[in-house]
Amino acid sequence: MHVAHLTLHDFRSYADIDVALEPGVTAFVGSNGQGKTNLVEAVDYLSRLSSHRVATDAPLIRAGADQAIVRAAVVRDGRTAVLEVELNPGRANRARINRSPLSRARDLAGIVRTVVFSPEDLALVKGDPGQRRRFLDDLLVLRTPRYAGVLADYERVLKQRNTLLKTLYAARGSSREAALATLAVWDDHLVATGSELLGARRALTTDLAPYVGKAYEAVARGASRDDARIEYQATVPEPTPEAFRAELERRQGDEIGRGLTLVGPHRDDVLLTLGPGDDQRLPVRGYASHGESWSFALALRLASYDLLRADGDDPILVLDDVFAELDADRRVQLAALVAGAEQVLVTAAVAADVPEQLSGATFHVAAGEVTRG
Ligand SMILES: Nc1ncnc2c1ncn2[C@@H]1O[C@H](COP(=O)(O)OP(=O)(O)OP(=O)(O)O)[C@@H](O)[C@H]1O
Ligand SMILES: [Mg+2]
Repeated sequence: MHVAHLTLHDFRSYADIDVALEPGVTAFVGSNGQGKTNLVEAVDYLSRLSSHRVATDAPLIRAGADQAIVRAAVVRDGRTAVLEVELNPGRANRARINRSPLSRARDLAGIVRTVVFSPEDLALVKGDPGQRRRFLDDLLVLRTPRYAGVLADYERVLKQRNTLLKTLYAARGSSREAALATLAVWDDHLVATGSELLGARRALTTDLAPYVGKAYEAVARGASRDDARIEYQATVPEPTPEAFRAELERRQGDEIGRGLTLVGPHRDDVLLTLGPGDDQRLPVRGYASHGESWSFALALRLASYDLLRADGDDPILVLDDVFAELDADRRVQLAALVAGAEQVLVTAAVAADVPEQLSGATFHVAAGEVTRG
């Protein structure tokens, strides 16, 4: 798949731009703060309807403007579709495919598939569990767009249940009885949506694992494919709704005491470990060197790309400012691994940061203008 045309209106720093793109490698080169990441962020936004950089849409709308539009002509198997999303802060976003409106903007997710490499990826391995949950969830939605709905449902149930737990803490007598009865209803919802999400994340981790080992071997010098391991770490001991429910019962006192849901996929983590054998295996977080951590982060992105490709479609690769972070050997290695992708969008502050293996079109980005070099 590739983007053949990208139009932005009041998106980030761009008032109006229109860029024609080709398959293969395209590099966006320009000084800091000129809008390179903003451009690739727009393509990424179309894929999941959220940005890898921010949690809400507000920063994506150009300061002073009241809505933003991202439109892209996307070519897949020789057929072109025009995808469009209108970002309306405080109101529902709207999406269209070939000018026909979709009933929900969310239904656009997963049509464009992107895998974004960025310097922030280091936080995937070094940061808190939330980063790794988000990594899995993003990939889940790209693979199976229906999970965008499951995730939204789970978030909603969690919020309501937490509100109820806070009320329960102070409730006494008959109002406590009533609140406990309502809690049982929210437990049902939590177990139902949570188990679905949990099952999907576990299955995804299992599918991803062999690709992570392989990718780590490819990016880390002297590593073998058994070195890097990824495992799902759940707060629910067994992957069944019964176990979920039993764990909720066991923790009910704690939950009411803290006014928080303590069991479920929103508290899970993804355990990343490195080591030559099971007895010499250490977590990446807290133990791995800077270089090992970087290799692991790259391996997670490469593995995502390989997995999506194995599903039958070549995602768009975005390499946002990653080459400046890598030494010369690694640059060449990474370039060789991604050079065969249908479309690779690279950003770099200076052209010299883009490895020779990735030669292709170059655009200069300066002061909100994007010009073919
Ligand atoms: N909503 C917005 N409205 C107006 N300007 C914005 C908005 N969001 C970001 N910007 C501006 O866009 C610029 C950042 O653009 P971007 O992150 O694309 O830079 P870059 O070219 O990738 O730089 P670097 O090389 O440092 O990564 C900043 O100057 C920022 O102030
Ligand atoms: Mg940038």
